[in-house]
Amino acid sequence: MHAIGIDIGGTKIAGAVVDDLGAIVRSARVPTPTDASALEDAVVAMIGELSDSGPVDAVGVAAAGFIDAAQSTVYYAPNIDWRNEPLREKLERRAGRPVVIENDANAAGWAEFRFGAGRLVSDMVMLTIGTGVGGAVVSNDRLFRGGFGIGAELGHLRLVPDGLACGCGRRGCLEQYGSGRALLRIAGEIADGGGIGEALATARSERGGLDGHVVGALIGSGDPGAMAALERLGRWLGEAAASMSAVLDPQRFVFGGGVSVAGEALLEPIRAAYLEHLPARGYRPEPDFVIAELVNDAGVVGAADLARVWVEEHA
Ligand code: BGC
Ligand code: NA
Ligand code: ZN
Repeated sequence: MHAIGIDIGGTKIAGAVVDDLGAIVRSARVPTPTDASALEDAVVAMIGELSDSGPVDAVGVAAAGFIDAAQSTVYYAPNIDWRNEPLREKLERRAGRPVVIENDANAAGWAEFRFGAGRLVSDMVMLTIGTGVGGAVVSNDRLFRGGFGIGAELGHLRLVPDGLACGCGRRGCLEQYGSGRALLRIAGEIADGGGIGEALATARSERGGLDGHVVGALIGSGDPGAMAALERLGRWLGEAAASMSAVLDPQRFVFGGGVSVAGEALLEPIRAAYLEHLPARGYRPEPDFVIAELVNDAGVVGAADLARVWVEEHA
């Protein structure tokens, strides 16, 4: 059985036809339009294009927001202009086939659990470190959704009382300290401070700002300022992960999203801060911390697989 997965990201929309074993049979990609109706057009066109290649039994669309339990409506999206958006209805009407909407991080986490870094555990937490911080929880081999469909919004755990304002309307959320955007902000602060921030400051003035490419390249070359920014980011994530363990007790934490390409350099400060903040440390088993395996494909593979599960359960 083949299913289509579509992942609406901040910069690109990725789509694929995926088989039962999570293998990509065919894929497509376009830049994400900023306008909501152009975005819808692009998703509908992609579903059409991917459907030509043979029978498809389900379509899953992953989106960065709070999705209702019926997997139809985006209640709220912190970084996109969706408020009570009936996305499923709109897409189904235009695509002429059943569509299931899924939270983007849930899709990625499910793909890692089924086919990637979470294959060998029953309880896993995934954090996606991109524009925002996404969360997925697999508990006892099941994707946790909560009572209203909007559980596992781990990026909006409060980390800092009265901290930085977040797109969700609150202050001090993990997303403001542990996301790709937060990394750029922290890098900017280090650039302002001089000293180890020199290369960041130079890059910023040459390029008129700091973006993911510049900071990523400096991390890749081991620049001390960029590494310090990554370390600060990792420490926030590790501190938050310790609190997650108090509730969820996963055997494994998986980190994905753009910033996860930093690999061990990201995981090291995460592990260190996690252990410093872990309740009952020294007297309990400890989870391991790994980088996602499917990285760029996790969203489409997971969205397709969850759509297949949804169709099977509702047949
Ligand atoms: C949103 C989540 C999403 C995450 C990653 C957060 O701001 O609240 O729904 O999964 O960003 O895109
Ligand atoms: Na989620
Ligand atoms: Zn928030």
